Amino acid sequence: MHILIKNIKKLVQTETKPKTKISGKDMAKLKNIDNAYLILHNDKIEDFGKMKDMPDIEGNYKSIDAGGKFVFPSFCDSHTHLVYAGSREIEYNDKIKGLSYEEIAKRGGGILNSAKLLNKTSENELYEQALPRINEIISQGTGAVEIKSGYGLTLEGELKMLRVIKRLKETTPLIIKSTFLGAHSVPAEYKGKQKDYVNLVVNEMLPAVAEEKLADFIDVFCDKGFFTVEDTDKILKAGAKYGLRPKIHANELDFSGGVQIGVKHNALSVDHLEYVGDDEIKALKNSETMPTILPGAAFFLNMPYSPARKMIDAGLPLALASDFNPGSSPSGNMKLMMSFASVNYKMTIEEVINASTVNTAYAMNISDITGSIAKGKKANIFITKEMSTLEYFTYAYGSNLIDTVILGGKVV
Ligand code: NIG
Ligand code: FE
Repeated sequence: MHILIKNIKKLVQTETKPKTKISGKDMAKLKNIDNAYLILHNDKIEDFGKMKDMPDIEGNYKSIDAGGKFVFPSFCDSHTHLVYAGSREIEYNDKIKGLSYEEIAKRGGGILNSAKLLNKTSENELYEQALPRINEIISQGTGAVEIKSGYGLTLEGELKMLRVIKRLKETTPLIIKSTFLGAHSVPAEYKGKQKDYVNLVVNEMLPAVAEEKLADFIDVFCDKGFFTVEDTDKILKAGAKYGLRPKIHANELDFSGGVQIGVKHNALSVDHLEYVGDDEIKALKNSETMPTILPGAAFFLNMPYSPARKMIDAGLPLALASDFNPGSSPSGNMKLMMSFASVNYKMTIEEVINASTVNTAYAMNISDITGSIAKGKKANIFITKEMSTLEYFTYAYGSNLIDTVILGGKVV
């Protein structure tokens, strides 16, 4: 289908020469076109510009009048765990009563609780449980998403999760990237034998995952109480042999050395980053690693906020993802993440849009095909409801302002 969207009040995040990532001061800049048109041809963006320059093609295209409305490129959410079994609102209550994330994990809760349930859930049931989450994030404006394994923690469980992600890739209109996160937590049976578990990840899980071509990336939870820098080094080295680029969980609970080990392995991204100081910023400078903050997890766990402002002011790029998971961020709503990032991390509307489009596309290695309105990129966009200004989008943090979603050139 070919679509012409006309009378767009503001066409957001347009690029004539697409960038792979946006850093430092440039994050405050956004190229928008007022009173614009946008043409989608099959599954690609064909053309866009000012209304006064719109070509005379109306008869051949399905026409949508977007008067008073804004058009955005779909969000890219570069860090989620949205394939999981059940939910964990019981722990939410424990958290409100004051137990920390680590205390809950030590009591056999947290990730291990999800792993127990996942291993009892069939592949089909897991897929059925993930689908409504996929449909929800589509309706909330997401067009590309990364999904991690890491609630299996057994060979079979990890393969089951990754097969579900593969099936979601094949059956939904989202662009999906999958990440093998066997080293998410040490399972109960390996308590006191962490090295043995790392060996299982490296010697059994990884070859099986690679054999079935189930993962695009590899992840390790490199933090206090979870995996050490040495464990991480070993796992990432093994992953590199299979061509898996790292995207790791780092510095959420402490100055864990995760940022430095990630940069050393040329990670595509290091994510969470609550504990970042001058040494971490120095490591990230001139690297190809995208620092990624997860404002939903920091909000939900009531953690200290990552020094996002300091990182941007130091000239770094910054990405913003949801961390959608049952424990620390049970939401994949990118618009809400953007509001959190504005209020809690003092990021402007331009910065939060760059952080959740081009920069998250970079963090999934897909900024050549999505993340902005550029000719030849995938026709993944959404049309808002009528809005007064661009700022209104994150200001009205509880309102659903997304009117029409188009993925791969089709209205969904
Ligand atoms: O990104 N930090 C590690 N892993 C997840 C939490 C997963 C869970 O609690 O189930 C996160 O926040
Ligand atoms: Fe995570």
